[in-house]
Amino acid sequence: MTAPKRKLFVTTALPYANGSFHIGHIMEYIQADIWVRLQRMRGHEVHFVCADDAHGTPIMLKAESEGITPQQLVARIAAERPQYLNGFHISFDNWHSTDSEENTRLSQDIYRKLRDAGLIERRVIQQFFDPVKAMFLPDRYIKGQCPKCSSPDQNGDNCEVCGAVYAPTDLKNPVSALTGATPELRDSEHFFFKLSDPRCVEFLKGWTQDGRLQPQIANKANEWLSSESGLSDWDISRDAPYFGIPIPDAPGKFFYVWLDAPVGYLASLANYFGKQGIDFESFLADPATRQVHFIGKDIVNFHCLFWPAMMHFTGKPYKVPDNVYVHGFITVSGEKMSKSRGTGISPLRYLEIGMNPEWLRYYIAAKLNANVEDLDFNPDDFIARINSDLVGKYVNIASRCAGFITKRFDGKLATGLPAEGEALLAELRAAKEAVAQYLDGREFSKAIREIMALADRTNEYVNAHAPWELAKKEGAEAELHQVCSVALLAFRTLTTMLAPIMPDTAARVGAFLNCSFASWDDESPLTVINPYTHLMTRADVKIMDKLFDLPEAIAAAAPAKAEKKVEKKAEPAVEPAAEAAHISIDDFGKVDLRIAKIVSAEHVEGAAKLLKLQLDIGEVVDGQPKPRQVFAGIKSAYDPATLVGRLTVMVANLAPRKMKFGMSEGMVLAASDEAGEVPGLFILSPDSGAQPGMRVR
Ligand code: MSP
Ligand code: ZN
Repeated sequence: MTAPKRKLFVTTALPYANGSFHIGHIMEYIQADIWVRLQRMRGHEVHFVCADDAHGTPIMLKAESEGITPQQLVARIAAERPQYLNGFHISFDNWHSTDSEENTRLSQDIYRKLRDAGLIERRVIQQFFDPVKAMFLPDRYIKGQCPKCSSPDQNGDNCEVCGAVYAPTDLKNPVSALTGATPELRDSEHFFFKLSDPRCVEFLKGWTQDGRLQPQIANKANEWLSSESGLSDWDISRDAPYFGIPIPDAPGKFFYVWLDAPVGYLASLANYFGKQGIDFESFLADPATRQVHFIGKDIVNFHCLFWPAMMHFTGKPYKVPDNVYVHGFITVSGEKMSKSRGTGISPLRYLEIGMNPEWLRYYIAAKLNANVEDLDFNPDDFIARINSDLVGKYVNIASRCAGFITKRFDGKLATGLPAEGEALLAELRAAKEAVAQYLDGREFSKAIREIMALADRTNEYVNAHAPWELAKKEGAEAELHQVCSVALLAFRTLTTMLAPIMPDTAARVGAFLNCSFASWDDESPLTVINPYTHLMTRADVKIMDKLFDLPEAIAAAAPAKAEKKVEKKAEPAVEPAAEAAHISIDDFGKVDLRIAKIVSAEHVEGAAKLLKLQLDIGEVVDGQPKPRQVFAGIKSAYDPATLVGRLTVMVANLAPRKMKFGMSEGMVLAASDEAGEVPGLFILSPDSGAQPGMRVR
């Protein structure tokens, strides 16, 4: 290894302990785990930890509603974690909890040091109080009429109908979402971290702009730092009752969950080091130690303003983060998933129906780069990637050549190799460093493109020599031996490069080739191999129906999936588009498009994206007009009240589909910008004069 040995402390964001993992969590862990596994293979010292983010009001209330203690709720969720983490081969060294002795000790220590540095201020603020529940209400538990448009039942901070942003105290007729009681404004003393202090601003201007952050994130931080109003002080206290860590010398006051959450990174490390006998303080104090956080784009302010400022002004032995690697969000068939409900793909369902976890690791890697970009899970694209890359290119090399070595040469590889074969192997080995650099720089998609190009080169070599022909030819024994040996050696090098992404496949290849993939640089000669065992099956499209056929996911994901199928956009990086560019007029004629009148439109309880529509297309049953019921994913764009009476266009001969919320008997068409630059969804309107039921062709 040429690079000096690194000392790394790596974390992913601590998931809230009030729910199971969703596919967004798994994506973050896969990204970090690939990076960590590369570092380990390169010989670096890595400590990779995470924990449950246990505190806060939602967890407290959820436990209460279930009649259990918050600790019991957190323990139940914690018990679920291993099946996901093991299932997707996520190799954390430790998993802990923010509701722990270590976190209490560290959070209180950090708070005292910040207080001694003069960065904590007490201020009396006015806040809504629920007199029935006898607690102060976080903004999200206050509902009321929008101060601007008077729409009822709006959130405490913004109106979903007119988009206005306001403070909960601006709401007309506010009510507590917990009890329905009218909240009272009450005084309460709160503790603030003085982010507006010139020392903090000065420090953050340096820390955010010295090149350690991704350019997009540095720009965002710069916007915050140079905004006219400047940085606001940060409210870090909450009043009892609260599930959290008590603030020292302040009875009845607790740290706001976001104060002790990032401290949980340190608590998990301390807990782990305690078990390992490694000294926590000297590890952090070592200037060689690099602290790296992987997080999603929604929690940048906590990690790039509050957290580094906290760590800087707390002083030794604490250290500021060296890097914060921010990723975008995973969407499923172009649909955002809700953070709390986690619609889209259920990670457990994925595993239960026997889908290979490494398909997902590979697919995510193939689409990830170092920018803060969203990543779409597209079912057709997924299948194509797995089958063409992993099965068609990679596994194919071994499956075509190994049998000859076992059957004809007793499992022994040839010793002298032909120049052409040596040249191919040299090319592959030379490419390893570039691939390592891509992976280290989180340019995973570039790494995969490179690896697949090398797999193509190897397959060309195999095709050119056609071992299956050599096997039938007299006197070609030596060449057969050499060609298959070269192919398997190339396969070993490709596997090394894929090992951080597909550790389980690498382990199975190691068992078959009698070698290890623990080290990136290991090129020790292969001697005797074991009989080839099946490495990976093709992905069948039908498995996608199983994956999405979940009572929870079906309502949100299925309609989007159906729509996406129609357009089938092939990415240039994937396979050259093989499908026909045209359909016949007869094909088009199969789609029965009708003018529809929206006779009613309403919200659907529990559905994040759907509106329930009744569409009149002139159908009559038993002498009564019989509108069609359709669930349309247009809630984000339309207030149902504004839709009633409008004419639009529907697909009338789509097979009816049973959804979680009822039958959907057709589909409404809507336009959207695929590139995501123009936000929103736009349903169609016919010219005036069109009547319900008219055919569109
Ligand atoms: N508890 C806080 C983090 C505290 S860190 C000291 C939290 N938890 S979370 O469970 O809501 O999110 C955990 C991580 O998952 C975050 O990094 C978040 O950005 C990420 N994701 C949540 N939804 C996501 C997607 N749809 N896609 C990718 N990552 C997403 O925030
Ligand atoms: Zn409004």
